[in-house]
Amino acid sequence: MSYLSRARAAAPEPEHTLVCSGFSEGFAVLCRTLRDRGVERIAIEDPGWLSHRLIAERAGLEAAPAAVDDQGLVVPELWDSGCEVALTTPAHQFPTGAVLSSRRRAALLEWAEERDGLIVEDDCAWTVTRWARFRGSSPSGWPPSAR
Ligand SMILES: Cc1ncc(COP(=O)(O)O)c(C=O)c1O
Repeated sequence: MSYLSRARAAAPEPEHTLVCSGFSEGFAVLCRTLRDRGVERIAIEDPGWLSHRLIAERAGLEAAPAAVDDQGLVVPELWDSGCEVALTTPAHQFPTGAVLSSRRRAALLEWAEERDGLIVEDDCAWTVTRWARFRGSSPSGWPPSAR
């Protein structure tokens, strides 16, 4: 817990933390859980990592393509997707390498709040993106300036 707080600026509670063998396993568990709770669609970055879509679809979710540009996930388009869950790779978009801009982070948090939505962060490359402006921080730890 202290590592996650120190390295990722997250504030996890033990009862809200699940240790998995990697992102794929954690994401698969999450997708199945969401499906069991009635979620039908998830916005997945396009272009993105093929496994994101495959894992979501295997769990029974429809993967809705979410556009990406040089600022990362194009958040305004999430509103049109009708999704309440969105997967993003904010520190290092896969495969473009874009870093989700401050404005987009603010928009993403606003989307999640207003939509009562869920942001799924795949930050597999954060250890090699320490130069990024929001290095190391997970969405729950994004600074007020991102709002
Ligand atoms: C975008 C992305 N996310 C996650 C992973 C790693 O997934 P896992 O932790 O399941 O090995 C990779 C590995 O290539 C990747 O490219």
